[in-house]
Amino acid sequence: MKEIVLQKFAEIYGDTEGAQVYFAPGRVNMIGEHTDYNGGHVFPCALTIGTYGVARKRRDRKLRFYSMNFERIGVLESSLDNISPDPWADWTNYPKGIIWAFGEKGMEIPTGLDILLSGNIPNGSGLSSSASVEVLTGFILRDLFGFDVSNQELALIGQYSENHFNGVNCGIMDQFAIAMGKKGHAIFLDTADLSYEYAPIQLENAKIVIACSNKKRGLGDSKYNERRSECEEALAELQKVCHISSLGELTEEEFEQHRGSIDSEVRQRRAKHAVYENRRTIQAVQALKSNDVTAFGQLMNASHVSLRDDYEVTGVELDTLVEEAWKVEGVIGSRMTGAGFGGCTVSIVKEEAIDDFITRVGAAYQDRIGYAADFYVVEIGDGPCKL
Ligand code: GLA
Repeated sequence: MKEIVLQKFAEIYGDTEGAQVYFAPGRVNMIGEHTDYNGGHVFPCALTIGTYGVARKRRDRKLRFYSMNFERIGVLESSLDNISPDPWADWTNYPKGIIWAFGEKGMEIPTGLDILLSGNIPNGSGLSSSASVEVLTGFILRDLFGFDVSNQELALIGQYSENHFNGVNCGIMDQFAIAMGKKGHAIFLDTADLSYEYAPIQLENAKIVIACSNKKRGLGDSKYNERRSECEEALAELQKVCHISSLGELTEEEFEQHRGSIDSEVRQRRAKHAVYENRRTIQAVQALKSNDVTAFGQLMNASHVSLRDDYEVTGVELDTLVEEAWKVEGVIGSRMTGAGFGGCTVSIVKEEAIDDFITRVGAAYQDRIGYAADFYVVEIGDGPCKL
């Protein structure tokens, strides 16, 4: 891959003098969905697929970007003197946002850059290709200009940029999982205080299989922000009767006791999901620690039901993938992963059942939805690196 991206870099920018090669992973969340902006727990891991980047400093203040995933767009150019979100700037709003966020944090970028990216995360799949680009850009800036920032800070800068430059009110999960990834491990992160623990994922004779719905996302981002506001409103209503600073602080019992103070049935369901999903995530990690993969899978299934019925972020595509998966013998657990409204599902499938899983779920999906889903057997990889 290093040779391929360097060769393309030379083709686009003339030569490779001073160019360095980097990689940042994508991520999949095993359980703990829509909990990260509610002060709850998440359990994501970095993948071995992700984004490759080649970068070098320029002598002027120009920024030039090229993506091998969007070749028809060609080179997009901007300048360090004019960094603002721009719909015409397309995908480059992600790296530009990071350059802007570094400036906001007092780390001005002194010179322009030539950047080329190539990702092998399926586009729009919900495996965080954008957070991967964000963390990768931060990693490149740190390396080329020698800034003193930790990987955890790179994650926070990524989230800051996504919130304030790209206008998506996301939580910290994606950027954290990518910046802090560890081979063979998922990250049990408490988003209330960013304390975390690495948990080995030992599935014995099972693997993680991702099914990509290929549903084009559209309204996803606005719906995401809507769910976030619903949770904020529910929290404000609960705060009139109990002393909490986030939904993640409540147990199921406490929630049931006070749910009446939330003045809408819809907001009650949203808050219920946030509270119960957080508790499920804590239980799931405990199950994994005691080698009870079956219990882990059941909690994954319960997570999907809650995201479907109470949080309402699944849709017919993700529901079909998951409900068909549940029918296949050898599937330990299956659920939607990421923001929802499209994107993909994550399943734990026994090795001997993987072919059957792909054939049966694939056929049922094609039948019901009218186009194909894609399947990937994935491995858990490390965080960003220089190649
Ligand atoms: C997106 C966001 C994350 C998280 C998930 C849902 O991936 O970027 O912060 O909220 O959705 O769990």
